[in-house]
Amino acid sequence: MSLVSKIVQLKKEKNAIILAHYYQQPEIQEIADFVGDSLGLSQKASETNADIIVFAGVHFMAETAKILNPSKKVVLPDLNAGCSLADSCPPELFRELIKAHPQHVVITYINCSAEIKALSDIVCTSSNALKIVNSIPKKVPILFAPDKNLGKYINRKTGRNMLLWDGSCIVHEAFSIEKLLALYKENPGAKIIAHPESEEHILNTATYIGSTAGMIKYVKQHPLEKYIVATEAGILHKMQQEVPDTMLVPAPAKADNTCACSECSFMKMNTLQKLYDCLYNENPQIEVPENIRKMALQPIERMLELSK
Ligand code: 13P
Ligand code: SF4
Repeated sequence: MSLVSKIVQLKKEKNAIILAHYYQQPEIQEIADFVGDSLGLSQKASETNADIIVFAGVHFMAETAKILNPSKKVVLPDLNAGCSLADSCPPELFRELIKAHPQHVVITYINCSAEIKALSDIVCTSSNALKIVNSIPKKVPILFAPDKNLGKYINRKTGRNMLLWDGSCIVHEAFSIEKLLALYKENPGAKIIAHPESEEHILNTATYIGSTAGMIKYVKQHPLEKYIVATEAGILHKMQQEVPDTMLVPAPAKADNTCACSECSFMKMNTLQKLYDCLYNENPQIEVPENIRKMALQPIERMLELSK
């Protein structure tokens, strides 16, 4: 029996659901019940009747699913699948910053730990960040963490002056503007689309800026001949399925980057074998202490409510 058939059978027996992010390896995306961006995955996790959630993504995503589903088992194929952005914001330091700015509303990007979410007023993702920030009256100051690039982008778009945590994503900061412009010259007529975790000079070249799901929706609605795609390369799998006749070129990374096409090494830690193993063993499981879970649930629920 193939590994894929074994996973399908086990999933049925155990009433499990597989949720996968667009950056997962193609074979994982193909076997998933749902593939989406951070918001879509949180929404699916909040609705599921499954007993086990197999989260093919990174730790903060699986942790969000557990916060929403305390009585379900949430398993992650590789517990080391972290996130540079989440790691950039330790709770002790963040607590101090909040203390120093008691008037500020705390908005956190979902790419952070449960402890950070527990210290927040409201969570956002790249697909609803503008909406969430705009829901706060203009005169109220905002502290935004942990992604400074997304924070700067929101400041530019809304004319606000949010106080920003100095965090970033190693993958989205690896794009080379020189190489991108050279690639653009080689591909006349191509449009650049980018994820808002990218730096300002990359975003300035983009026709469309949005979440992974937003980027896929955009190319589907505007099936041009060629797109240069500035986000993690795993997105090309589903995007290409949606627009089979469009040429999709991954935005180039800086020369010193280990991967020429910008892959997230955390996302790629999950494999089909590890996915099978974690479903079979129901381990490694995600656990969140109940006091933190309860505090982290409120800002996530506020986000889900505002995203309806
Ligand atoms: P999305 O919510 O846009 O899928 O982004 C998740 C992420 O980790 C981007 O690096
Ligand atoms: Fe985190 Fe960046 Fe990987 Fe997304 S691509 S999971 S932000 S390290």
